Amino acid sequence: MGTDLESVLVSKEEIDAKLAELAAKIDAEYAGKELLLVGVLKGAVMVMADLARTLSNPVTMDWMAVSSYGAGTQSSGVVRILKDLDTDIKGKHVLIVEDIIDSGLTLSWLLSNLGSREPASLNVCTLLRKPDAAKVAIDVKWVGFDIPSEFVVGYGLDYGEKYRNLPFVGTLAPHVYGG
Ligand code: XMP
Ligand code: MG
Repeated sequence: MGTDLESVLVSKEEIDAKLAELAAKIDAEYAGKELLLVGVLKGAVMVMADLARTLSNPVTMDWMAVSSYGAGTQSSGVVRILKDLDTDIKGKHVLIVEDIIDSGLTLSWLLSNLGSREPASLNVCTLLRKPDAAKVAIDVKWVGFDIPSEFVVGYGLDYGEKYRNLPFVGTLAPHVYGG
């Protein structure tokens, strides 16, 4: 695993099982409806790819890239759109697919931004959620795992753009990020 990683927090098997569970609920919720998955780049690529393939119902996909963190591990509180959606979501059923909700700042901004575009419905599915997210009044319909407030990498999540391709979610050794 290398010396930069401290431990495996969520294994590939646990992720697969959880996504199957969430996909069944999402399939049921949107039965007979057209669903657009909106993935938040870059962290959500793995969740998006695996969740989409686990769903039975057909979906369309679009991507947004926003930035709330610099190269470090602290939220700056400032959200910028780096890439907007390619499609108009007015009247569509939209499900935001996120890798992780930490302070919830990114998501609450995203919800009000996408909400103002008048989708038919707007929900959120996140693989991971940290405890601080509870401090912000945001409604997250589907959560994979509630995890401790530790910096995690893998399965799309990076530290300085590294570790995204790990098939599991792991904790980073504090010496790597000076914690
Ligand atoms: P907020 O605090 O706005 O953060 O909810 C959401 C975004 O911050 C990033 N983030 C992390 N990235 N390991 C990461 O690799 C983490 O532990 C972590 N916590 C937050 C992530 O980009 C997420 O979309
Ligand atoms: Mg991210």
